[in-house]
Amino acid sequence: MLSISKRLKTIASLVTLQKKVIDIGTDHAYLPIYLYLNNITKNITASDISPQVLEISLNNLQKYNLEKKINLIKSDGFRNVDGIFDIAVITGMGTYTIINILNTKNIPDTLIIQSNNDYYLLRKHLNYLGYKIEKEIALYENKHYYIIIKFIKEKEFLTDEELLFGKSNNLQYYDYLKNKYIKLYEKSRDEKFLKYIDMLNSIIEKTPVEMK
Ligand SMILES: C[S@@+](CC[C@H](N)C(=O)[O-])C[C@H]1O[C@@H](n2cnc3c(N)ncnc32)[C@H](O)[C@@H]1O
Repeated sequence: MLSISKRLKTIASLVTLQKKVIDIGTDHAYLPIYLYLNNITKNITASDISPQVLEISLNNLQKYNLEKKINLIKSDGFRNVDGIFDIAVITGMGTYTIINILNTKNIPDTLIIQSNNDYYLLRKHLNYLGYKIEKEIALYENKHYYIIIKFIKEKEFLTDEELLFGKSNNLQYYDYLKNKYIKLYEKSRDEKFLKYIDMLNSIIEKTPVEMK
């Protein structure tokens, strides 16, 4: 059986059952293979911009006899993608690449995004495109927090705190951010970090008891 990271499993847990899914930037195609083998959905397209990567994806699909079950295509973002999907998964890339990928027509109403950086810009841009944060998970793995967000097409007002620190309600993550900004303030004496620490203190106070 395919063994995948906690990060990919968490991403898979956000995929609604039996929907038509595209994994943009699939790389090894582990997520599509996992979705298929676990009956999360069988209607899957895996795509990548890189021909070398697609050879590896194809090899992996063949290992599981899925080369005829999962549609594999070469595409820069949605450029060569035909038809409308229910869900697009775009993970393991930087926010600028993700924003470029989303700068096209026929973007699905549900997006599962895990960016490697610039979460403020990511949340702000998706909010501008008319997407709401349906669920946000701050996942700790390999000594690192991954921010995984499921967006759905719906208007939403986000506060500055939510744009900066998200909606995960994960107290450990907020504590981690607070400690990071305390260290950054001690190094730089930049007042901006004091403001972040204050904001995080008030978020931590407001986080519901069951989340703590
Ligand atoms: C670090 S891998 C992430 C793989 C997988 N999505 C994950 O989360 O584990 C990033 C992949 O995105 C692909 N990629 C980068 N820019 C892309 C684009 N504009 N369109 C499609 N794929 C892209 C790269 O070729 C690479 O395979």
